[in-house]
Amino acid sequence: MSGLHVLILGSAAGGGVPQWNCRCPVCSLFWVGDSRVESRTQSSIAVSADGVRWLLVNASPDIRQQILATPFLQPSNGSRHSPVEAVALTNADVDHIAGLLVLRERQSFTVYATGQTHDILASNPIFNVLSPDVVKRSVMNMDAPFDTGIGLMVRPFAVPGKVALFMEQGQDVRIGDVTETTIGLEVSANSKRLVYIPGCAAIDEKVRLMASGADLLLYDGTTFTDDEMPKLGLSDKTAHRMGHTPITGTGGSLGAFGDLFIGQKAYIHINNTNPILIDGSTERQMVEAADWGVTRDGMKFLL
Ligand code: MLT
Ligand code: MN
Ligand code: ZN
Repeated sequence: MSGLHVLILGSAAGGGVPQWNCRCPVCSLFWVGDSRVESRTQSSIAVSADGVRWLLVNASPDIRQQILATPFLQPSNGSRHSPVEAVALTNADVDHIAGLLVLRERQSFTVYATGQTHDILASNPIFNVLSPDVVKRSVMNMDAPFDTGIGLMVRPFAVPGKVALFMEQGQDVRIGDVTETTIGLEVSANSKRLVYIPGCAAIDEKVRLMASGADLLLYDGTTFTDDEMPKLGLSDKTAHRMGHTPITGTGGSLGAFGDLFIGQKAYIHINNTNPILIDGSTERQMVEAADWGVTRDGMKFLL
């Protein structure tokens, strides 16, 4: 069926839900078998115009498990085949690039990323497992729409961001610069528009402009409050320091798009500490009352 197909492969932030070593309130509920918290893999979506050829946006370390759970993405003809024809990256975070290592085995596809993200891949020789004679690396330029050749148009745009955590060493870390470090993507087909922004340090006018009129906005739902991790004693980092917008509080996302016409809005890249992950929680009710959905792995949208 034509339209714009969007599959939520992974709805969690780095670490997933539960995180392997975490006993925060949300993870603890999962560990004791409380059905209000379901497991979630790390953030990735698949998009298609025809339901046959797919673009992955970000390749999470959980991609193998995500493909096992998603018949659309499984090989279906010949001795070697994959419906995944391209992978676009929104930044170089581990949860978004490590899955590329799983996609080796001489399968041909295109990796779309900014020049800066390509430089990070190029400087880590482990990514040479994606042999250059079969995997094409294509540079995305900001605000320059391009045709993926599989029926999807993609328009990348820079958002306020931060370098990947593993690149922070020895740097004076700048938060919120609008550069090619962290981008959002508009993916469109058949007159439908998805706007995908899994990481964003601040909601500026450009972010709002891009989100405006989207049939579906999938947005950074990392934490509910800015001080969520410090308050739980898990990290001294606020959402802002991690390069993310909290859902509530100053600069929060909950009300930041409320005056715009947007078909559907849903949070993705949700950290395991976020109480919206608990079915029926006050925080979950609060986001739903503000017209935001909470993505789950395996969710499908047909726009
Ligand atoms: C993030 O979203 O802030 C990063 O994925 C953190 C990380 O790399 O662990
Ligand atoms: Mn992340
Ligand atoms: Zn946790």
